[in-house]
Amino acid sequence: MTAEPTSARSQARYDAETLASLTADAAQIMARYPDPRSGLLPMLHLVQSVDGYVSRDGIMFCAEQLGMTAAEVSAVATFYTQYKRHPNGTYTVGVCTNTLCAVMGGDAIFEELSEHLGVGHDETTEDGAITLERVECNAACDYAPVVMVNWEFFDNQTPESAAALTDRLRLGEDVAPTRGASSVCSFKRMSRVLAGFPDGRADEGETAGAPTLAGLRLARAASGSVGEGDPSSPGAPSASVVPPSAPARPGQPGDEGSPSPTSGAASASGPAAGRAPGTGEEQQEAEVPPETGAERSSAERKPAATGDESPGRSPSGGKADPEPERKGRDDD
Ligand code: FES
Repeated sequence: MTAEPTSARSQARYDAETLASLTADAAQIMARYPDPRSGLLPMLHLVQSVDGYVSRDGIMFCAEQLGMTAAEVSAVATFYTQYKRHPNGTYTVGVCTNTLCAVMGGDAIFEELSEHLGVGHDETTEDGAITLERVECNAACDYAPVVMVNWEFFDNQTPESAAALTDRLRLGEDVAPTRGASSVCSFKRMSRVLAGFPDGRADEGETAGAPTLAGLRLARAASGSVGEGDPSSPGAPSASVVPPSAPARPGQPGDEGSPSPTSGAASASGPAAGRAPGTGEEQQEAEVPPETGAERSSAERKPAATGDESPGRSPSGGKADPEPERKGRDDD
């Protein structure tokens, strides 16, 4: 099915060879879905892999292939920031300025790069090498502040290291991401991968590094499964094996209020989360049988008796015992 032509400029203008190649690739994309229209997102990446952005011809091509109107295709293409509406540089340099990266130096990195490159957000250097962007969280907060080059990770950056990175990119040098693929490819090549045509590099390099797995390792230690193997190995048990109501284990790593800033991640796997040792609370909590309601927030618990709904009042209407109220907060 082909969209109704609405004007003389309603057809994609590609040379015969390019059009044949695009059409063959589009057919592969559409064949992946019960409804060909579902292939629009990868098809937009496909036209970016040819034009370097979602051109007017690219929009027309997608509309023709999918039986959509140009307006429908444009509505999708303008919604997602990964689709570029003007020619993109060879490298998209994205600086994460979301909350954690921002406070860890992301804002400073963006300002440095903007000055160093002479461009602002979503602008491209005169040599066409780099398009600078602010990007939202890339789920790499444990490596903040993060810079991405064509969606490859460059972790723990500084304004100086990021500026040096862009210098190398502009000189045409090979640069290696901190994790993942062993090199950075061009924006067009990356777009073809995102269209669903693998370049064979998906399994290159490390993905989840030590900081990413630190919480899992501590959770296992706290649950007594220390030494069960490399947490990154496929056969290793997942963190979900940690019993949510496991009693505190004095003497286990992560339970003692270790000064390590990450120790809370371990103790958070059980009811001992956030408690200091030596207060007697561990023993008290361990003796509380499960399913008593202590695991629920006060808002979720049904009142034991009339009057219990009122904070600070006992079931009998007298002055409340402060202990249950304190425990409720601890358990929330
Ligand atoms: S805030 Fe930057 S990767 Fe999450």
